[in-house]
Formats: sequence, C-alpha cells, structure tokens
Amino acid sequence: MPKPKVYVTRELPERGLNMIKKYFDAEVWPEYAPPPKKVIIDKVKNVDALVPLLSDKIDAEVFNAAPKLKIVSQLAVGFDNIDVAEATKRGIYVTNTPEVLTDTTADFAWALLMAVARRVAEADRYVRSGQWKVAWHPAMLSGRDVHGATIGVVGAGRIGYAVAKRAKGFDMNILFYDVDPARTEIEKNLGGRKVDLDTLLRESDFVTLHPPLMKETHHLINAEKLKLMKKTAYLINNSRGPVVDEKALYEALKKGQIAGAGLDVFEQEPASLDNPLLKLDNVVVAPHISSASLETRSKMSEMVADNLVAFFQGKKPPNLVNTDVLKVKPLLSE
Ligand code: GLV
Repeated sequence: MPKPKVYVTRELPERGLNMIKKYFDAEVWPEYAPPPKKVIIDKVKNVDALVPLLSDKIDAEVFNAAPKLKIVSQLAVGFDNIDVAEATKRGIYVTNTPEVLTDTTADFAWALLMAVARRVAEADRYVRSGQWKVAWHPAMLSGRDVHGATIGVVGAGRIGYAVAKRAKGFDMNILFYDVDPARTEIEKNLGGRKVDLDTLLRESDFVTLHPPLMKETHHLINAEKLKLMKKTAYLINNSRGPVVDEKALYEALKKGQIAGAGLDVFEQEPASLDNPLLKLDNVVVAPHISSASLETRSKMSEMVADNLVAFFQGKKPPNLVNTDVLKVKPLLSE
C-alpha cells in the first residue's frame, strides 16, 4: 500500500514532523513565510491530507482543488481559518490541537497583563533609551496593582479557566462571562462570579478575552462595550484579533476611556507598522505567540501527527473538530 500523501504548509517542530515523515509521503513548504494560496491550491491536488497553520486560509477554493483530501490536521486550537462547514459537507475531517497549549496560553495572557499593568515594556524602553537619569523617584513609571484587583474572564473554556486559576494566586476577585450556561467551573472550583458581559466590563480592572472567533464573537468588544469599562481598566486579548474592534480600541485608549491594553493578536496579522495601536505607550504587543513555548509547540506538532496517524489507521482522530463529518464520511475502517 502506498503511503498517504500529506502537504505540510510549514516546517513543524521536529517531533511531529519526523512522525509525519515516517508514516506518510510528506511534502513540506520550506520557507519561513507561508505558501501563497495558489501554491496551496496547486499542492493539494493530489494529497490525502493537509497540515495547515492558523494563518493559512483553508476554504471552498482549496477543497475544490483537492478531490482526494480526506483530513485537515491543523497546528492550533483555533480553527477560524478553516471553513469547517464546507469541509464537513465534503466529508473532510478537521482536527486541532487543544489542551496541550492551555497553560502556556494562559501564562502568556498573564505575561501581557502584568506587563501592561506594571509597565514592563515601557520600563524596558525607558532604561535602554537613556531616559533613566535619576536613580529613584516615587512617581517613576508607577503602574497598577494586580493583586487584589478584579479580573473579568470573557470565555470560560479551558484557557479562560486556566487564566482564572492563576488569578487565585494573586488574591483577585474573579468575574467571568460565557454564553454557555453549563460553564460554571470557575464558580464551583475557584469562587468566581458568573455575570453578564456588561456587568463584567463595568466591574473589572482587567478584562481578558478567551472566546473562539465566530460570527457571534466578531467585534464582541466594540466602542459601546469599551465605554462600559473603567477608566483605570486594562484589556488583554490573546484569543483572536477580530474579537476586538481595533479602531474602537484605539479611540478608547487615546481618549483615556481605558488605561491600557495587552495584545497578542490583531485584526490583520502581521500587524502593520502603520497600526496606530503600536504608537501608544500604554499598549503592550506581541506577534501572536501565546502558545509559543518550545515544549508546547513540540507537543502540538505531535498531536497533528497523532490525529493523522489515527485517521489513516481507521480510528476516530482524537481531536476531531467536526464530529458531524462521521455521518457524511465513515471512518476508513468502516
Ligand atoms: C493559536 O492561536 C491557536 O489557536 O492555537
């Protein structure tokens, strides 16, 4: 039996890539920058499986070019770059890499929160640019206390929960919001209070965003919502850029409607140097690296391979996103 053909859109961490190369006839896009869409369209013509990253748009145009495609195994927990409904319609399985990145991503939400509250990035620029001319001054770079403050977690799934868990260690008052009434673990295990979004925005000193990007969460935080926040509050986003209306955020920051923001994600990635948010000192930014620890990225790559191997062994992939696909296209063993 010839090995199934797989197209991988970037050099993945070794652990997963070696597995993929061992079990499959794999071709890997060798460059650091993503393959142009027309390359993906050309490469999928003959493949049984595709391994994309979250920056590759995998839509009907790609599926139309891929008559043999059976599975898309993505390296990311989020999959808003994939038209899952189109995949399901065509009997194509879609998998992701949840859980292994939960704590790493929660850690980074905290890195942004601490950095913006205690002005870490500003302080670094201050020292390096030679502005530190007086040894100590009581007003120098004063930020805001994190401990004892109120944190509002928007989206109480795995990552939101892990962020809230860390807030306990800082003696914070925890509020959370989730559309799913069944999500109550933050209340049960951590003593948080479930509230509606507007209450959360009004009462929190730190608002941290952890929903998936969907039609319903696009610009969830807009001008109207930002107006509800305290003037002294900070917004943290390491979910997906379009969850926040960036223009509205810029206006809110500029007018002093809120105190600052920590952003790992943007409406357009990479963020352009013209993005006005980059001009503001009270904004800490990062290039979408919340899950970027060596350990986690390695585990994510292994999961990508595990999902592929399970599928081609006729088993249900452990991280199947579109379970409805099982009704459209049975497992290879069935
Ligand atoms: C990263 O943003 C991911 O979805 O894994």
